Amino acid sequence: MPARKKAKPINKEIAMPKEATKIQEGRIDQFFSGPGARADQWRDLQDVAQAWAAGTAKRSDVEAALVDMDATEEYHAYPGAHLINALDDTIAVDDARATAALVTRISNALITRSFRKNGSDWEARDDNDTAVRDVLPPVLGRGDSQRPYFETLIVTGMPADRWAAASSEWRRLRRPLDAFVYEPVIVGSVEDAFCATMLNGDIAAIVINEGFGFRSRHNAPVLRTLSASMEQQYNANSDVSALQLAQLLKHVRPELDIYIVSNRRVEAMAGNPKADVARRIFYSVEELLELHLAILEGVQDRYETPFFDNLKKYAQRPIGTFHALPIARGKSVFKSDWIRDMGEFYGINLFLAESSATTGGLDSMLEPTGNIKKAQEKAARALGADRVFFVTNGTSTSNKMAVQALLAPGDIAIVDRNCHKSHHYGMVLSGAQPLYVEAFPLTAYSMYGAVPLRTIKQALLNLRAEGRLDRVKMIDLTNCTFDGHIYNTRRVMEECLAIKPDIIFLWDEAWFGFARFSPFLRPRTGMGAANAIEAWMKDPASIAAYEKQKAELGDKPSDETLLNTRLIPDPRKIRLRVYQTNSTHKSMSAIRQGSMLAVKDVDFHTVEAQFKEAVFTHASTSPNQQLIASLDVSRRQMELEGYGLVSNAIEIALAIRKAVAEHPLISKYFSINSAEKMVPAEYRKSGFTDHLSPNMNWAQAIESLRDDEFCLDPTRLTLVCGTAGFDGTQLKGILASRYNIQLNKTSRNSVLLQSNINNTRSDVAHLIRVLVEISTEIERRLAQGGDNARKEFEARVKSLMTDVPDLPNFSHFHDTFRKDAGKRTNEGDIRGGFFSAYNAEGCEYIPLNHPDIDKRIKNGPDLVSANFVIPYPPGFPIMVPGQVITQETIDFMRKLDVKEIHGYDANEGLKLIRPDALAKMSGKPQAEKGGRKAA
Ligand SMILES: Cc1ncc(COP(=O)(O)O)c(C=O)c1O
Repeated sequence: MPARKKAKPINKEIAMPKEATKIQEGRIDQFFSGPGARADQWRDLQDVAQAWAAGTAKRSDVEAALVDMDATEEYHAYPGAHLINALDDTIAVDDARATAALVTRISNALITRSFRKNGSDWEARDDNDTAVRDVLPPVLGRGDSQRPYFETLIVTGMPADRWAAASSEWRRLRRPLDAFVYEPVIVGSVEDAFCATMLNGDIAAIVINEGFGFRSRHNAPVLRTLSASMEQQYNANSDVSALQLAQLLKHVRPELDIYIVSNRRVEAMAGNPKADVARRIFYSVEELLELHLAILEGVQDRYETPFFDNLKKYAQRPIGTFHALPIARGKSVFKSDWIRDMGEFYGINLFLAESSATTGGLDSMLEPTGNIKKAQEKAARALGADRVFFVTNGTSTSNKMAVQALLAPGDIAIVDRNCHKSHHYGMVLSGAQPLYVEAFPLTAYSMYGAVPLRTIKQALLNLRAEGRLDRVKMIDLTNCTFDGHIYNTRRVMEECLAIKPDIIFLWDEAWFGFARFSPFLRPRTGMGAANAIEAWMKDPASIAAYEKQKAELGDKPSDETLLNTRLIPDPRKIRLRVYQTNSTHKSMSAIRQGSMLAVKDVDFHTVEAQFKEAVFTHASTSPNQQLIASLDVSRRQMELEGYGLVSNAIEIALAIRKAVAEHPLISKYFSINSAEKMVPAEYRKSGFTDHLSPNMNWAQAIESLRDDEFCLDPTRLTLVCGTAGFDGTQLKGILASRYNIQLNKTSRNSVLLQSNINNTRSDVAHLIRVLVEISTEIERRLAQGGDNARKEFEARVKSLMTDVPDLPNFSHFHDTFRKDAGKRTNEGDIRGGFFSAYNAEGCEYIPLNHPDIDKRIKNGPDLVSANFVIPYPPGFPIMVPGQVITQETIDFMRKLDVKEIHGYDANEGLKLIRPDALAKMSGKPQAEKGGRKAA
């Protein structure tokens, strides 16, 4: 949008509510705000315009409100210069009613997104006077065949007064045959291009014409703290600036297609390796239509869903099946008097698209060669991986597949003890020996954080000291954790590669798949960091950095020195082997159990056969077609609108945090843990405390995301409810049964809320209303119950918040399962422990509260767990097979007041491997402490 007639210099980092701009300027939520804040601005403008029409506000109020929004509106095609100028005109002629009508119409079109399909929304006049028309939201799930809409960012050096004409020229290129419709958004500088790319989730393609400037004419102080060095290198009017900008924008949003239009030496530019980020380079005198077609083709490439497209075609064919799966085609369902309701409930397409066939246009999950293979390749592109496996039994299976394929019996894997049970079971399957490392505890909330890098490095150094580094093959960590702790994936990998250059990383990112589509979070994903390391390895400066550090450290640096140094690996020696698992169903639009296993492994060819075996072991021979299709479609969605959806999820999480913190009644009883509460200060060297703290801006959030050892995923909200007298399970029950609110996990004194791409601001409003209602009820109960009620409440809060049990660390495997273990590390043969439980005679049960438990802990012989014991919450195994049980674990278990403990039957007691069975296995009698043999 060219400069408006009345534009004034304003601070326009990002759209946000006016009052917030005024009161808390420079706050971090400026760059974390998205469509919600923009909609609020339009609603605010609507209120002021209507007040002006009613005579209760002044024209200058409307002008001021409009100027506040002016700059960021330039980054969106709708309402665009035409409608904004029309607004200026109605204001200029003092027509308050027409102003209010137009603002209302624009605001409604934005909220309902109707402008994407209604041509009349773009007109300055609406003969039906929609100022009074109700806002009707688009019908969910309606199958209308409108063409998908997107916006194309055009970066140009042409003078702003020619932008309107240029926009019209772009629109004239549209043809009825086009599969999509797009609107151009024109900007003239690096800063504006960056802001538009950050703020406008509708942008799906970018065209960079040479000749643009660097600085925006608007004020962008926080951005400038980061862009100053880039400005120095900025090379006006050259190919360099176009390539630099293309790289910057690709870094922010890798899913976008970038086209460069050059006036001069296009051949030289095309040959520059930096031009890899561009989908195509055009010579400027060429046909604009070619560029238009290339843009549509680029979007079509992302839109195409090879498996789903084929499945739809398959469903339309008149196929007779003489195969299994009678439900396919639906005849036995729709003809039945008894189960027709199922058909009506799910609809005919579900049945038409069912098949057990792998031919006739479908493909085989076990040996994909056709459209599943293509769909997986597209998913790999979307996730920044070399290859992706679709998995239809959840990330539980993806993890087991990766562990089985990459580890063999006797291999050692450094594993977070609190990781999901699929990893522990994967170790049992593979026969690998887990070397458990402990996460930092958050005892106050009965939960664990993540594993400090120092602990991981120490484990590697211990193995090295004992000459057993060759046996450790994998580091297996959860990123982010259930409660939102995110590793500094790049730093962890670099420092570990400095000790063992070929170690494999398995990042369980079950919860974190969406992070790929946020520029803030992407660098902290396994694949994001792997790509950054790969780029770093190619830079000659990296070898110099490594050599410099090597010289500084000397020949034999002590372990302490190595632990205290940010280690740089030798880029020439690294074998980059990174695996990442995502529950696509947890954070994207896949049907339940849809998961992806992403691979970036230079040595994949050496394990490819093993991966095939892992697929054959775990994948059903009857995978669900709908599930595979939903994985394909999730990828399409994230490549085309994932950025906007994730921004929205983050914005919603921040809105919930803000609303809870600022509400006088809710905040009396409830709070949401900030990064400061969830990540101890020693792991937050940047000093970042909370996205909402005053004086915090997004540049500091970026610094924290870049440097801090751990960050908190803002979309994971630990709502502390012990202060309201509820344990987590109680509050979860109340929210589900009374208010239809489903939430994630619980702890002793908290519940975990999570925002995702599906949430709307109505969900936030509902949650806040409910918390107000619950808080009001507590107030009433306390007011009416007198002293007794208050004392009871305080005692309950104290018990939940203060009398929390210590979290038990992993003790050690019994010697029977550590025959080939070293002295300094705790790995053990979990598989041996697991299968000892199959020998019923070799096992015994002792009730948890039986005095024998305490006696044996004191005097021996050891209590050795025969199985996994996993209480929910907290959900990590407090005992694994072969583990020696300690007092700490028993104390924790006795204090647990949860009903669901997998692997433990309260009537029978703890299942233990008998001392005589251990003696038989190890060939050693089991001694009581002090040397006496067990009876
Ligand atoms: C960290 C982690 N990994 C893996 C899984 C298993 O994923 P799925 O439910 O897709 O099998 C979970 C499930 O909650 C999890 O929390």
